[in-house]
Amino acid sequence: MNETIRRETYNQAKEWVLKAGEIIRDSLYEQRTIKSKEAKNDLVTDIDKMVELFFVKEIKRTYPKHLILSEERYGDKEITDNGTVWAIDPIDGTRNFVNQKRNFAVSIAVIHQGVGEIGFVYDVVEEVLYSALKSEGAFKNNKRLHNLETKKRLEEASLSFNHDLLCESDEFDRNAMERLTNQVRSVRSKGSAALEIIQVAEGLSDGYIAKKLSPWDIAAATIILNEVNGTATRSDGNKINLFEERTIFVSNKGIHKMIIQNYLKYWRRKLI
Ligand code: IPD
Ligand code: CA
Ligand code: CA
Repeated sequence: MNETIRRETYNQAKEWVLKAGEIIRDSLYEQRTIKSKEAKNDLVTDIDKMVELFFVKEIKRTYPKHLILSEERYGDKEITDNGTVWAIDPIDGTRNFVNQKRNFAVSIAVIHQGVGEIGFVYDVVEEVLYSALKSEGAFKNNKRLHNLETKKRLEEASLSFNHDLLCESDEFDRNAMERLTNQVRSVRSKGSAALEIIQVAEGLSDGYIAKKLSPWDIAAATIILNEVNGTATRSDGNKINLFEERTIFVSNKGIHKMIIQNYLKYWRRKLI
């Protein structure tokens, strides 16, 4: 992506992300419509839709040739990794948005020719904006984030994942996850994939494991994580394709390989 266009797109995206945050904050205590999607706990509200539509309209008006891959499907039906694609999650952590009114984020990524170039994760209630431009570093409210530690013992590590990874399924062997849980210092679950990856990027957590995430859940936060020398791979250690739904493992470099080889390799029954 040409440097001037990239900088200009970054500034434009930032303005829209902050505006989206305002829309969400203003709606926080209003009555809203809540619906379940395919699964009963997969929620969508009128605000998720309103914020996604806001981005789609602005992007299509300003960059008519760009494609949009978005959770509530107001974006494009057909996506190719040729050209520029925006991955949009208007609210990542909708269940938290509904129940807690905190711990959710706006997640926006700009991907050019398959490469993540720009990422924003906005913790709307805390008013903390995480951002990155590829190869230019990651920032928390304009303050640079440091590179992650590369030496960390598993005994000192704190991980995050959802409780369902400890349940038996055809896809996973919960014993491997139980062994891992017994080795680490703590396991937490926040309920927003974007914010959980960001916690790793900030060094507040050492790793995040999640089943079948979509591009809009992970694209922005992994662009930010890459800038602090973190690692995001599939659960078999292979590279993530930003356009595919995948089970992922995100961590600092100190524990990544070891967790894949000693635990995740035995945990996966199928490659998902
Ligand atoms: C969900 C959250 C959640 C993760 C789910 C995602 P949503 O996104 O990131 O933490 O476990 O897999 O779908 O539906 O709130 O945008
Ligand atoms: Ca999401
Ligand atoms: Ca969402």
